[in-house]
Amino acid sequence: MNYNSILEGKHIVLGITGGIAAYKSAALCRLMVKAGAQVQVIMTPNAREFITPVTLSTLSGRPVITEFFTANTGQWNSHVDLGLWADAMVIAPATASTIAKMATGVADNMLVTSYLSTRAPVFIAPAMDLDMMAHPTTVRNLSLLRSYGNHIIEAATGELASHLTGKGRMEEPERIVKVLEEYFGTGRELAGKRVLITAGPTVEKLDPVRYLSNFSSGKMGFALAAQCAARGANVTLVAGPVSLSTPAGQIERVNVTSALEMHDAVTARAARADVVILCAAVADYRAEQTASSKIKRDGNVLTLTLVPNPDIAAAVGRDKRDGQLIVGFALETDNGLENARAKMVRKKLDMIVLNSAREPNAGFQADNNTITIIDSDGTVTPYDNKPKTDVAADIVDHIVSLMHNS
Ligand code: PMT
Repeated sequence: MNYNSILEGKHIVLGITGGIAAYKSAALCRLMVKAGAQVQVIMTPNAREFITPVTLSTLSGRPVITEFFTANTGQWNSHVDLGLWADAMVIAPATASTIAKMATGVADNMLVTSYLSTRAPVFIAPAMDLDMMAHPTTVRNLSLLRSYGNHIIEAATGELASHLTGKGRMEEPERIVKVLEEYFGTGRELAGKRVLITAGPTVEKLDPVRYLSNFSSGKMGFALAAQCAARGANVTLVAGPVSLSTPAGQIERVNVTSALEMHDAVTARAARADVVILCAAVADYRAEQTASSKIKRDGNVLTLTLVPNPDIAAAVGRDKRDGQLIVGFALETDNGLENARAKMVRKKLDMIVLNSAREPNAGFQADNNTITIIDSDGTVTPYDNKPKTDVAADIVDHIVSLMHNS
């Protein structure tokens, strides 16, 4: 990739936190400036113990921001303005402490307030000792940040400042710049395209306190929304009840609860979409009657009558217009390929993404997924288990290649 054309003119906020790897941030800053980016450095108070602001302000050509106010002038540094100025925010190194603050919204320094204010994509390069890295708290915080649409640049394995060997080294500056180049370089394939995505579960009420649903977290669908928006698409995300925030970018979110609501939200919007991705785990049945009062336990067997919900994917497939691409998912426990193929044909889909409800670290709730893409011409493409953000990139790569071939 051509260095100067991709990051040229991009506004990058480089956040530096207090870890020994902060010395690498000087090289990172220099590489980004050399690539044509305008870099604004924000340091946490602890970062100044590891590298001086003078080094970074010299390399970036801008005063480094460390505090909410500049001491000698009393000037207020606006985190909101900085957040809006940024085309990307890179936090390298990101310590366990800053990662925890970002995950929980502890906005007690300029870096975390700017993070909370930005609408730009955020890249986080963790660096810490191997045991801190492997601690369930850090693992959970990184997983939360990933689920919010942030990009985690995984730490490398090697000798650490403690002289122990393991995972925790901040990724090399050249590699971080490459991640940015890849992000911005692949950015525009879906520019001008409208993508409609369903995500999460549906919830079918039985009475005021009970419901039928499934374990979908929405992570896969939200990762797809983030990926499509990052590539320039105008995304509409029809989401069942999930606890995820809307990823950054051009994304209109429509919250729904039941399959009937999701059906209405999707069918009202599908005709305008160039691509429809049906990732939601829609409840196939709902109660024929929703009780208006809490159903009382009387010791007898309770029989519920369930009626089928509309098949949203089939409705979109039936009304498919020329040039539109419809992508379904199949969540299977047995005979995956056979069942997925049958669903693709029955619902008139252009491709289907098969994943398993049995595999560990995949499917419902997991941060990772293992998928197989099946095309309408019968081509089968299996992929390795990887984070859902990367799975989303594979799926969107495939969609883009189908769009080019159609
Ligand atoms: O949300 P996560 O925790 O990240 O988990 C992701 C996921 C496992 C939910 C996702 O990867 C996935 O597999 N989604 C589809 C789940 C599903 O309901 O599969 P299905 O095989 O039952 O349905 C086939 C297709 O028809 C799907 O595209 C589904 O969205 C669609 N469908 C199903 C029923 C229905 N009434 N309307 C539909 O549109």
